[in-house]
Amino acid sequence: MKQDMIVILDLGSEENPRLAREIRAMGVYSEIYPHDIAPEELAALPGVRGIILNGGPNRVVDGKEIDAGEHVWKAPVPVLPVDHQGSDPWPAGEEARKAALSHFVFDVCHAEKNWTMENFIADQVERIRRQVGDSRVLLALSGGVDSSVVAALLIKAIGKQLTCVHVNHGLLRKGEPEQVVEVFRNRLDANLIYVDAVDRFLDKLAGVADPEQKRKIIGAEFIRVFEEEARKLSGVRYLAQGTIYPDIIESGTKTVKAVKSHHNVGGLPEDLDFALVEPLKMLFKDEVRACGAALGLPDSMVYRQPFPGPGLGVRCLGAITRDRLEALRESDAILREEFAAAGLAGKVWQYFTVVPDFKSVGVRDGARTFDWPVILRAVNTVDAMTATVEEVPWPVLKRITRRITGEVPGVNRVLYDLTPKPTGTIEFE
Ligand code: XMP
Repeated sequence: MKQDMIVILDLGSEENPRLAREIRAMGVYSEIYPHDIAPEELAALPGVRGIILNGGPNRVVDGKEIDAGEHVWKAPVPVLPVDHQGSDPWPAGEEARKAALSHFVFDVCHAEKNWTMENFIADQVERIRRQVGDSRVLLALSGGVDSSVVAALLIKAIGKQLTCVHVNHGLLRKGEPEQVVEVFRNRLDANLIYVDAVDRFLDKLAGVADPEQKRKIIGAEFIRVFEEEARKLSGVRYLAQGTIYPDIIESGTKTVKAVKSHHNVGGLPEDLDFALVEPLKMLFKDEVRACGAALGLPDSMVYRQPFPGPGLGVRCLGAITRDRLEALRESDAILREEFAAAGLAGKVWQYFTVVPDFKSVGVRDGARTFDWPVILRAVNTVDAMTATVEEVPWPVLKRITRRITGEVPGVNRVLYDLTPKPTGTIEFE
């Protein structure tokens, strides 16, 4: 398939992802590569119409200023060097910048607007079929945005050659395991293995109060369960993963040290020797959502808020107990319902409840109670590194409080967390 591309070479700018997104938003595909991309690699990239050398504050690496190789300058397409030592490279102002970028992309490079989700999907379907042939592919399907979109894409490409494994570790939100089964098994007719590992996880977690220990147990147990399922299958050569572009960018470039190392399903034993299928690895999050929507996944799956891997486990504070976990799941469902009803669901970045491990005294129908509190948290952020608290309207908070204390057994008090990040993290553990 013909698709034009503008290549961004990273010469120490922190703005590479933003630039790529802006170009893609103009309808032209764009990818980021290191400044020292090999001549063969650059020459082999399909559809290159132009190259932007994106310089910036990190241009000096180990005391030396880095530059693009001779072959880049001699490439048979327009090359635009942009150097900004910490200041904006483009003409001042958002509009002028956009106009300058648009001028380069369309007037100088003559790129065509052919970056669409339909083209992307058609292209990936073809690539996936070419990559895996008639082999079987395995996917850990959590029900999160990325793994769900990968699943939908692979089902379209290879149907029953894909086996999805959904591990219910008991720490998912209300209705999530059911939705995975409904969407993938019933609606998309996928080969889905549903593993009820609730008791297994909760038994392992019993009495464990340390947050790091809890996370480790959840992560390790997940891999163990998934590995057991993988061993039961024969002829699986590929493992699909919902790796997305920011995961790759955040794993570090040549000019910026890794922010965090990334593993989706890391830690599988070496004798389970899979090649990876990562069809979303060049997409930004909003593009992943658009892809899922184009593939027909429900909005509630595609536009859902971020949810941590260890799930409700890090929101049921201290040693997890079944009664508090249930209170957490029910109160979270009420919060989500009320946010949706108040028009806040698409507006607030992340909102959830937390159940601490202390009780407090209350009164109900004239009698003393000694029950758990529920903490509400609602925050907005761009990159999850800092966050501000959403100013939820008082009547909405009152309604949520009334419902939680009225409908959730074992809860007699509701608190609202007013802490931005810093000093609080978004999650409590
Ligand atoms: P914190 O609590 O560090 O959270 O302010 C920042 C964002 O990351 C999410 N989060 C996780 N996501 N696995 C994930 O996939 C995890 O272990 C994890 N811990 C936190 C958190 O929900 C928030 O969006």
